[in-house]
Amino acid sequence: MSMMSAVVKKTADQAELTSMPIPKCGPGQVLIKVQSAALCGTDMHIFEWNAWARSVGIELPYIMGHECCGDVVAVGEGVCGVKVGDKVVGETHIPCGHCYQCMNGEQHICANLKMFGIHTNGCFAQYAVIPAICARPIPGEISHDIGAVMEPLGTAVRAAGEMQVAGANVMVLGCGPIGLFAVAAAVSMGAAKIFATDISPARLEIAQIMGATQALNPLTEDVAQIVLAKTGNFGVDVVIEASGNVEALKDSFRYLRKGGRMALIGLPGKPIELELGREIVFKEAKIIGIHGRKMFETWTQMENMLASGKLDVSPVITHTLPLNKWQQGVELAKNGEACKVIYHPWED
Ligand SMILES: NC(=O)c1ccc[n+]([C@@H]2O[C@H](COP(=O)([O-])OP(=O)(O)OC[C@H]3O[C@@H](n4cnc5c(N)ncnc54)[C@H](O)[C@@H]3O)[C@@H](O)[C@H]2O)c1
Ligand SMILES: [Zn+2]
Ligand SMILES: [Zn+2]
Repeated sequence: MSMMSAVVKKTADQAELTSMPIPKCGPGQVLIKVQSAALCGTDMHIFEWNAWARSVGIELPYIMGHECCGDVVAVGEGVCGVKVGDKVVGETHIPCGHCYQCMNGEQHICANLKMFGIHTNGCFAQYAVIPAICARPIPGEISHDIGAVMEPLGTAVRAAGEMQVAGANVMVLGCGPIGLFAVAAAVSMGAAKIFATDISPARLEIAQIMGATQALNPLTEDVAQIVLAKTGNFGVDVVIEASGNVEALKDSFRYLRKGGRMALIGLPGKPIELELGREIVFKEAKIIGIHGRKMFETWTQMENMLASGKLDVSPVITHTLPLNKWQQGVELAKNGEACKVIYHPWED
């Protein structure tokens, strides 16, 4: 057998499941048999071919998808540390290995960063080739479906870790997959009260299942007033921004306590105006951006938490579908019914 099924984005307005040659792995690459691949908001932008998708250097036609877990079936020349039979997850950040960041322990924000499934063929396919450095072997206790969401989960685990949430009152803005993962990570790392906001009642419900102390809807509730009342009028110690919504972010400065910490994950589609003196300088707010996972400290931490059962993110996976029903997954995500959709490329 030399052909495989893959979801190919062919033109600006066409994507389809089609038959493609099984790729071969070159030097420094591994070939994986994809068992589970997760649909992400980024894929939705690429399906729609919006302004962002047109601007990030995607060359059409190409195989979509970047979040996946599978089994290694071949390794290229010079590959060590990953072997045939390993269960691996793809880290999407492909570092160059020689820039300032790569040489100083920050390869996840490499100056020449390429992204798997954006600048390379991806994983909405039965097989995928990934650079060996990005093929992270995971413990056997972690299922392929959970493995497939470890890439976005890692972003949330990293944010909760950097924010030192143990014993802290935490606010998570946005209960999309990443916000929900942040709630789960905060629970697992010993946060005190965890507030979570979203404008979707269905997602707020999942936040409560994940262990949020209180799930709040800014459309119907005065979030700042409620959070202040529940935190001795000081405000929360930590805000994790995972909505990408400018108003939610601006509003959060009303209840971030003086000396508080904030991690920014969400990507607002427009510039934001802030009163820097009041909101940051006099408050001594400590704000950091989070771009993906530390390679590979975050992975080690996340694998330990998942394999020990201390971190459970299964409620975020609301749908699993065979890859040939990929369009149904896109529709479920578009109409807000699904949170995380997983595709199984070997099922009918
Ligand atoms: N920094 C990174 O490395 C990184 C990686 C992947 C995604 N992202 C970004 O992180 C964000 C979250 O990703 P996701 O996949 O969970 O996206 P998502 O779009 O599924 O989740 C965003 C959630 O925010 C909610 N929301 C909208 N307006 C809100 C408001 N006013 N208050 C509270 N919630 C509101 C939405 O209903 C949605 O549930 C996105 O902006 C995404 O682009 C960042
Ligand atoms: Zn993604
Ligand atoms: Zn680099």
